[in-house]
Amino acid sequence: MGKNVAITAIGVGKTFPMGKQRVSALREVSLTLPAGTLTALTGPSGSGKSTLLHLIAGLERVDAGTLEVLGHPVHTSTPTELAALRLREIGFVHQDFSLLADLTLLENVRLPLEATGSSRGPASTAAREAMARVGLDGLEDRFPAEVSGGQQQRAAIARAIIGERTLVLADEPTGSLDSKTGAEIMDVLARLRDDGVTVVLSTHNPANLSHADQIAVLHDGTLLSFDTTEGGTP
Ligand SMILES: Nc1ncnc2c1ncn2[C@@H]1O[C@H](COP(=O)(O)OP(=O)(O)OP(=O)(O)O)[C@@H](O)[C@H]1O
Ligand SMILES: [Mg+2]
Repeated sequence: MGKNVAITAIGVGKTFPMGKQRVSALREVSLTLPAGTLTALTGPSGSGKSTLLHLIAGLERVDAGTLEVLGHPVHTSTPTELAALRLREIGFVHQDFSLLADLTLLENVRLPLEATGSSRGPASTAAREAMARVGLDGLEDRFPAEVSGGQQQRAAIARAIIGERTLVLADEPTGSLDSKTGAEIMDVLARLRDDGVTVVLSTHNPANLSHADQIAVLHDGTLLSFDTTEGGTP
């Protein structure tokens, strides 16, 4: 995947309505994220990390600037186009896993493919593959309540990479986990990066930064620094 660019933000801004006024959540954020790299967004609570991930995912609309995601100009995309992009090309991993309790891990993981029209057989095969990639072989038929928090998070990651998805966005993916399990989840995400998946995650935990190829520090909605590290892929 080398030098291909996955995400380009130029002067991106986002405000939210607050009574009669609007509060600025992001201001003039510009960055370029190469495909197949792992980027960590860090910064204090309220600095705009989740907002930036939501804009990249097309979950919120860009108010200012331009934002290209996997070749799509999401700043001009319609809600329908954004929904299609999200469904087919982007995986989102939430802090609280957001697995459906009544479905097995396999059924949870194959949901995005079924939602895009795949039939159950091929979707299940792809789900088994995705689960094997994150170390969940053998747990396909367990329900979320029957596995550990780390295994639930692995399942959420498997759901995010199933099919052709090459961009995984993870909002505090280790936030609900103890430090040892969190480190294992970071290893899983770093391995996906090594396989060519583009990973963008937010984190409060400095230990998670060691896997990052790029570290973006946000403060009050602005990009305080954006550094390429030597810890990631060469
Ligand atoms: N839907 C919303 N409506 C109004 N304001 C919002 C909304 N979402 C975020 N904000 C505001 O935008 C700013 C950035 O919030 P954001 O959730 O992106 O921060 P964060 O860095 O993810 O924080 P945390 O570390 O606590 O998760 C904050 O001031 C927040 O209050
Ligand atoms: Mg957040």
